[in-house]
Amino acid sequence: MSDKSTGKRMFDWFGSRYPIKEMMEYADHKTVPHDRHFLWYFFGGMGLFFFIVQVMTGLFLLLYYRPTAEAAFESVHFIESKAYFGWLIRNVHAWSANLMILSLFVHLFSNWFLKAYRKPRELTWVTGVLLLFISMGFGFSGYLLPWNKLSFFATKVGTEMAASVPFIGEFILVFLRGGEDVTGATLTRFFGFHVAVLPMITAVLLVVHVYFVQAQGMSMPIGAKKGREIKFFGMS
Ligand code: HEM
Repeated sequence: MSDKSTGKRMFDWFGSRYPIKEMMEYADHKTVPHDRHFLWYFFGGMGLFFFIVQVMTGLFLLLYYRPTAEAAFESVHFIESKAYFGWLIRNVHAWSANLMILSLFVHLFSNWFLKAYRKPRELTWVTGVLLLFISMGFGFSGYLLPWNKLSFFATKVGTEMAASVPFIGEFILVFLRGGEDVTGATLTRFFGFHVAVLPMITAVLLVVHVYFVQAQGMSMPIGAKKGREIKFFGMS
């Protein structure tokens, strides 16, 4: 019987087949400067954390939610009142959605004020902006899903705003609503955006965004002292 822990044995098993240790050591070379700016470097990771919470709670909500005009409102009522811990899962999903958007705005503004967008991180910024737009798309499409009065009118007004875009406004409105008005077709469409289209685009952009950060390391704000550095995994 070896005296190694199960975790260590699993790590060795994978490590002898895949370059996990090397990847972790590589990540460790990309350190965060530990000076008065360093708290701002947490917010991208916080956005990522809340996104993962959204995926997990969203999958649980999917077990009971039904995306049709006839059944949606009732199914949300069922989640709130009958499904085990449904009220908790639904509330965590709603809170984490708000906290995710908040983290991302702090992330955007801190990158802006610390000038992290400068060469060579232009594309990290661009993929970030796309991720923020998509995150707001998650919020907008998710808001309709409970299919109550508030969500119905929010979607009506929101899609009307889209219609004021010059030239293609009317097209966007019909595309979003799945017709002239907000109906069951809009609900089914928004559900598709919320649980399939947007998550797929997000997954791709996230991998690219985080890869860019790993490949280039963290930026150094102008005038920052390098000071002590914090490692990603503490391997090397
Ligand atoms: C779902 C949305 C997003 C996630 C999950 C995310 C995640 C991350 C993570 C984990 C980092 C490394 C740690 C950090 O600097 O905080 C990072 C860095 C960065 N992000 Fe984001 N991000 C998102 C959106 C954005 C947005 C909206 C912007 C700006 C428009 C942006 C621009 C950047 C830049 C420029 C860096 C490099 C920072 C540096 O090197 O100092 N990201 N992102």
